[in-house]
Amino acid sequence: MKINQGYLRLKDSYLFSTIAKKVNAYKAEHPEADIIRLGIGDVTLPLAPAVVDAMKKAADEMGVKETFRGYGPEPGYGFLRDAIVGYYADKGVKIGADEVYVSDGAKSDLGNILDIFDEDNKVLIPDPVYPAYVDTNIMAGRSIDTASGNMANGFKPMPDPSYQADLIYICSPNNPTGAVYTHAELQEWVDYANKCGALILFDAAYESFVSDPTLPRSIFEIEGARTCAIEFNSFSKIAGFTGTRCGYTVVPVELKRDGASLNAMWNRRQSTKFNGVPYIVQRGAEAVFTPEGMKQIKANLAYYMENARVIHQGLESVGIWHTGGLNSPYIWLKCPLGLSSWDYFDRLLTRAGVVGTPGAGFGDNGEGFFRLTAFGDKDRTKEAVERIIADLK
Ligand code: MLT
Repeated sequence: MKINQGYLRLKDSYLFSTIAKKVNAYKAEHPEADIIRLGIGDVTLPLAPAVVDAMKKAADEMGVKETFRGYGPEPGYGFLRDAIVGYYADKGVKIGADEVYVSDGAKSDLGNILDIFDEDNKVLIPDPVYPAYVDTNIMAGRSIDTASGNMANGFKPMPDPSYQADLIYICSPNNPTGAVYTHAELQEWVDYANKCGALILFDAAYESFVSDPTLPRSIFEIEGARTCAIEFNSFSKIAGFTGTRCGYTVVPVELKRDGASLNAMWNRRQSTKFNGVPYIVQRGAEAVFTPEGMKQIKANLAYYMENARVIHQGLESVGIWHTGGLNSPYIWLKCPLGLSSWDYFDRLLTRAGVVGTPGAGFGDNGEGFFRLTAFGDKDRTKEAVERIIADLK
């Protein structure tokens, strides 16, 4: 019997678990500490009333014989897949309901999608970026090449025509830097992928934070993307479903590799290994896209973006270099006093009682940087910013 050796190549624990452990250990030693958590990008506002109403109604239906539902369709109920198609249509993007696969979140799908690809594929992952891409590929036994994001390229690496990638990860708006690719930049990636036969795994989890109408919110806004990209999205950030779990993946029907339809392969994978998202949750997700739901959700997004503005203003007032926070809920800053990411993490935790995420946790290029999330409570975010400033005086 042999184990998957990939697991032995992973760091001891996942970034956000490491942070939680460190904070809990500190809290155990200092029970009096008043800690403000701006680390993991977890939402703090409750579900929108339209979502809650839809879930309650669905729960009632589950208690009545005539409307009770057992196993649902693995790719998701038609009502939610249609609502997602409508959401894309509002963004000017045409997709089909048979291209939408509802799941328990983008994180799961981003890891699970690797089932349908050969182990030998060359993977290109930006650095810094969401650590799940790296960890899931290490678990799958792949070695990883990185595309360098840095201050000089605005944390937006571009394709290198002399390098042949097979799988390319793009996260835009980027977690953790908040950088957003323009249409022209994404077009370069799409052209590159179509030319060399690579596949783009596009993580659009933060698209709802894009307020600049000139910036793309879906890879499928880009000409040629349907033959080289799969898009992952989530209800976590747009609608506060981090605890409720719902996301979706869009796999175009014409997307083929080695003569096989990736849509059909994903369908086969999901119907074999996944039994779908609860009916109650899917009804809640459907309500996100109703006019009432959208109105309520936009107010929540505005609340978070006001937090981002407060963080930006505070950092600016003490001359800390930072980016993001404009079309993204993350603010990416250069650690003050030349500190390393983890040293600044320790300093903020112990001196200011503020938790952020060390940039080094997102890749080597993140060393010396730090991420703050705008998903906190409004007053606590203001206080955290005051404490960050006071710590430097
Ligand atoms: C983050 O903090 O980067 C996110 O919350 C992680 C996630 O969405 O899984």
